[in-house]
Amino acid sequence: MSIALGIIYLIATITFVIGLKMLGHPATAKKGNLISGTGMVLAIIGTLFLQEKVLETGEVVPLFKTVSIFVYSLIISAILLGSIIGWFMAMKVKMTKMPELVSLFNGFGGGSSLLIGLIEFSKNVGVDDANKASSAIVTTILSAIIIGSITFTGSIVAWAKLDGSMKDLRLPNYNLINNILFLALVAFGAFIVMMNTDSLILIYILLIASLIYGYLFVAPIGGADMPVVISLLNSLTGIAAAITGILYGNMVMLVGGILVGSAGLILTFAMCKAMNRSLSNVVFGAFGSSGDVAVAAVGKTGGSIKKTSASDAAVMLNYSTNVVIVPGYGLAVAQAQHVIHELEELLTRKGVNVKYAIHPVAGRMPGHMNVLLAESNVSYDKLVEMDDINPQFPNTDVVLVVGANDVVNPAAHTDPSSPIYGMPILNVENAKNIIVNKRSMNAGYAGIENELFYNQKTSMLFGDAKAALTELVSELKNM
Ligand code: TAP
Repeated sequence: MSIALGIIYLIATITFVIGLKMLGHPATAKKGNLISGTGMVLAIIGTLFLQEKVLETGEVVPLFKTVSIFVYSLIISAILLGSIIGWFMAMKVKMTKMPELVSLFNGFGGGSSLLIGLIEFSKNVGVDDANKASSAIVTTILSAIIIGSITFTGSIVAWAKLDGSMKDLRLPNYNLINNILFLALVAFGAFIVMMNTDSLILIYILLIASLIYGYLFVAPIGGADMPVVISLLNSLTGIAAAITGILYGNMVMLVGGILVGSAGLILTFAMCKAMNRSLSNVVFGAFGSSGDVAVAAVGKTGGSIKKTSASDAAVMLNYSTNVVIVPGYGLAVAQAQHVIHELEELLTRKGVNVKYAIHPVAGRMPGHMNVLLAESNVSYDKLVEMDDINPQFPNTDVVLVVGANDVVNPAAHTDPSSPIYGMPILNVENAKNIIVNKRSMNAGYAGIENELFYNQKTSMLFGDAKAALTELVSELKNM
């Protein structure tokens, strides 16, 4: 590798690390993305124009001088076409459809790894034993094919489920079937390596079996658990990219892949922890799809609820000193992020101290609430994380819960039989008054009753979040 290319790869690697770090906060995330993206563009340009090749004579020449202009034009056209399509898709996507897009892009990543694996394996076909790739390289190639294929079909299934175009599919004993198929895949791959074969038929069998496994792996998992699965598949895409980095001896691909792989895994486990569930429970369990655990818990709570109107709620908010807004999935569904910001600004102008309490898994994807509120220009310093806001609830005059349910359910503390028992929640029941906005008494994602709604301090403001908040805002404006 030329010194110039080495330096470019080093710079790109540093931009990946810096960008990843900056993605950790909404205020810096955009810039972080841009920095890493620039590093990636640099690495691609460097690879295209500074990569060297050693000729049979021993002479080292730039790679592009050994390749026809036609091939280079094909590569550059593909990059341009992909960038334009990606740009349009990203610009057009609605915030609530973001998990679908992430899933689709994941699938493309897996797809490219499997294609690279196929191309590299085909270079072995017909080559005499002395010049064949080593077992280590063939193992790497097969890993790229297996992981890439699983990620490809798995991500497409995840995308279809989130999109609502595919239902959960559970074969009898699906866990057993899946585990056997996975072990068979690994054993078959090992067999190909040991046989030192260049049979493309065997590779296509491995490819098809891996694609089927990817489908069967994701198909039984409940639609609502998809964000966790997507994050897991995302980390698999990273691993597949790292493997292809090993194949090409390309440092930047290897580091990029490892960063994506480890970040995806960290996020997967963080989501599981915030939902108080193990990864195996998400992957092999039934939560969020059949809801069998959850349904059993419905109906335990009961009693009477207190309804309120927009005008009464407005009076309560108007005469408060400290108000905390708890946004949840319903806020996202109703697209009420702009009107909640309007409410917050109105109350602030009236001298009320307003904050937002952000639960790590409020909504349906990581950072859902941060992204949604950022879209309506809510100031980041108003967003307070769960651990910081929980001690502040006793001093809060009114908590306004908008379209959130599980993340404020006290059963997580009080009911050991509840499926969410042990899940960290926002302790809104400690506030002086609670207003809950939702459309009905229906359960949330976990499918369970919420005793908070029957709390004496709670008033229910029924209605679609956008409509209810708009009414609240107009009542407040008249005060
Ligand atoms: P949920 O518990 O799902 O509750 C959302 C509530 O919003 C529902 O009870 C629903 O009640 C209400 N709602 C729906 N549409 C509405 C509308 N248009 N206007 C007003 N209210 C509306 O949401 P949450 O509290 O945000 O909790 C998130 C759940 O998702 C957790 O259980 C979490 O574990 C799970 N989860 C999250 C993630 C991530 S990473 N965020 C990933 C996987 C799973 P009505 O039908 O009565 O209106």
